[in-house]
Amino acid sequence: MMNLDEVGLANSGNVIYLVNVTLGGEDFTVQLDTGSTDLWVDARGRNVKLTNSTTITANETYGQGSASGTINYAELTVGDYVVASQAFVKASEVENMPAGIQGILGMAFDNARIFENLEQAWGTEAAEKLGRAFITNLFARNQSLPNNFDLQLGRSTFDDPTGNNTFIISGHAAGFEDVAQAPKLTREVSDHWTVLLDEMRVDGKQFLFNKSVVSGVPEGNVLAVLDSGFSLPPLPAAAVNAIYSTVPGAVLHSSPIGALNGWILPCDFPPIDVSFTFGGKEYPVHPLDLFLPVFPVPIIENGSEKNVTVCVATYQALALDPASFNTFDLILGDAFLRSVYASFDYGDYNPTNNTNGQPFVQMVSTVDVYSAPNEFEDFLSELRSNAPPSLEPSVFVTKQLSPSLTGGTNASTDSSVRGSLATDAVATSSGSSNGLDKKWGTIALALLAANLLVGIILLIVVLTMCVRGMKGRRMSNPDSRYHAVPVKFKEVADPDPEAGPLRYSD
Ligand SMILES: *[C@@H]1O[C@H](CO)[C@@H](O)[C@H](O)[C@H]1NC(C)=O
Ligand SMILES: *[C@@H]1O[C@H](CO)[C@@H](O)[C@H](O)[C@H]1NC(C)=O
Ligand SMILES: *[C@@H]1O[C@H](CO)[C@@H](O)[C@H](O)[C@H]1NC(C)=O
Ligand SMILES: *[C@@H]1O[C@H](CO)[C@@H](O)[C@H](O)[C@H]1NC(C)=O
Ligand SMILES: *[C@@H]1O[C@H](CO)[C@@H](O)[C@H](O)[C@H]1NC(C)=O
Ligand SMILES: *[C@@H]1O[C@H](CO)[C@@H](O)[C@H](O)[C@H]1NC(C)=O
Ligand SMILES: *[C@@H]1O[C@H](CO)[C@@H](O)[C@H](O)[C@H]1NC(C)=O
Ligand SMILES: *[C@@H]1O[C@H](CO)[C@@H](O)[C@H](O)[C@H]1NC(C)=O
Ligand SMILES: *[C@@H]1O[C@H](CO)[C@@H](O)[C@H](O)[C@H]1NC(C)=O
Ligand SMILES: *[C@@H]1O[C@H](CO)[C@@H](O)[C@H](O)[C@H]1NC(C)=O
Repeated sequence: MMNLDEVGLANSGNVIYLVNVTLGGEDFTVQLDTGSTDLWVDARGRNVKLTNSTTITANETYGQGSASGTINYAELTVGDYVVASQAFVKASEVENMPAGIQGILGMAFDNARIFENLEQAWGTEAAEKLGRAFITNLFARNQSLPNNFDLQLGRSTFDDPTGNNTFIISGHAAGFEDVAQAPKLTREVSDHWTVLLDEMRVDGKQFLFNKSVVSGVPEGNVLAVLDSGFSLPPLPAAAVNAIYSTVPGAVLHSSPIGALNGWILPCDFPPIDVSFTFGGKEYPVHPLDLFLPVFPVPIIENGSEKNVTVCVATYQALALDPASFNTFDLILGDAFLRSVYASFDYGDYNPTNNTNGQPFVQMVSTVDVYSAPNEFEDFLSELRSNAPPSLEPSVFVTKQLSPSLTGGTNASTDSSVRGSLATDAVATSSGSSNGLDKKWGTIALALLAANLLVGIILLIVVLTMCVRGMKGRRMSNPDSRYHAVPVKFKEVADPDPEAGPLRYSD
């Protein structure tokens, strides 16, 4: 059944999620970002028909990259929804944004750059009317629309390069109506979709976080931002180490190439069992979301270039400047959101009479913990046959990267520059940048965004470059929920409906 509320969402290599919009008669493919508010488009060379214009400038600065231009108004169409005159930044300068995005559609709250700059120029009352985000404009104009949008981020695999992607406004996807019964996680801090995280578990054991940076947060809990614009979730370093340090053969690595910075895993590791608990409900992370295969990574071996595959950790040590980012403790980006169907609700927020509603998020798990290890093993085996060979992490980190990757300099993969970098298709807030290294960021990002698609093309070209396939499988941690499952999981797929979250079973 065709759902009229469905807007459509595309998955670019598991690192960027895209939506098509029409602005002033021109089509743009923009990143869908629950971590920011404003709309900007790269208007260079485009003829966007404006409904109004200003000379007020705005610079949208993200965790990585920025865009700046003047604030203008145009008719915006997103799916079937139309806002007659939407404020946006008509970017005339764009720096360090991933290739393939022509703008960003923010889905957070009306307190970002456009609002601030209009407030400064015209006062609060005018800014509240004229500085609204797309989604709040939509809800303000049509009071009978339910105040929510739902997201399901697809997972790219060799068999299915996009996975199931859902972006719905004012409704729930067929089969996910029960999201309305999930615990309501209230928004705790007004500038983002920030919710209280009860706990993180690794192999069934609770990880103990330090006290939250935000005062008033109960001991043991922390605040998590749900951010579709952040591909690789940054957590406190100790939490990242708790996840990956038990993986046999894993190495914590520092590299000037953002994508290779962090934990490097052997590409035949056992599934890791990680979950996050919100509102008393446990949400397992699909083991496929805990790593990202990056390939081809050209290294120099005995004087000549050779391509290898590197399996990097998706959860990364927090590298955001705590002075600018002090309203949350961690960000759960795409590598968490892929494991849930999430409904973001503005509550009874009503911009026309300025009522501050109580926004909340509801989530249901999309991970079938019985078939997940199976899907994980299938993917690793496809990776072995379709991607260049991988090296033991301890061997890889001693290799020199090819100048074709590092841009002519002789970077060893084991750089002495420690801990300063993390890379991402980040869009955290309109606040300050976090000191990401500009020089390497884009290379790393292009590498990340391209790698799964490249893998699919390699499927045709390369037969088998399997160097690891004959090795014995590593034992998983005995406390992992995946431990008891034998190597080939398919025959045990006889799920007990009482025992865990199951989707897709009907
Ligand atoms: C966006 O438009 C392009 C070009 O028409 C199309 O290929 C793509 O599938 C569309 N993406 C979505 C999410 O609808
Ligand atoms: C355009 O903006 C000006 C203020 O800059 C306002 O006076 C005018 O009414 C607006 N026009 C439309 C059509 O919205
Ligand atoms: C936006 O501001 C930041 C921080 O001041 C600056 O580094 C960046 O170059 C600006 N971006 C654009 C596109 O002007
Ligand atoms: C408001 O939304 C309702 C429900 O989707 C729809 O039937 C109605 O046509 C909308 N009204 C306007 C003015 O867009
Ligand atoms: C996508 O959704 C369909 C229908 O619900 C389901 O059968 C399929 O397994 C899902 N695919 C993935 C990759 O989750
Ligand atoms: C707690 O904070 C200390 C000091 O900053 C740090 O060394 C330690 O790793 C942190 N522990 C956790 C669990 O984050
Ligand atoms: C590289 O050269 C050394 C010494 O010549 C040799 O022992 C080693 O096997 C070579 N390695 C590869 C991967 O060819
Ligand atoms: C490595 O892969 C790249 C991209 O597919 C290709 O252009 C290059 O020729 C490969 N290098 C080697 C040594 O196979
Ligand atoms: C704001 O408007 C909504 C919708 O018309 C109404 O339900 C609500 O009671 C109003 N709140 C206040 C404080 O006026
Ligand atoms: C890189 O190192 C190799 C030997 O390790 C050397 O021959 C080459 O000149 C160096 N290239 C640059 C650009 O420094």
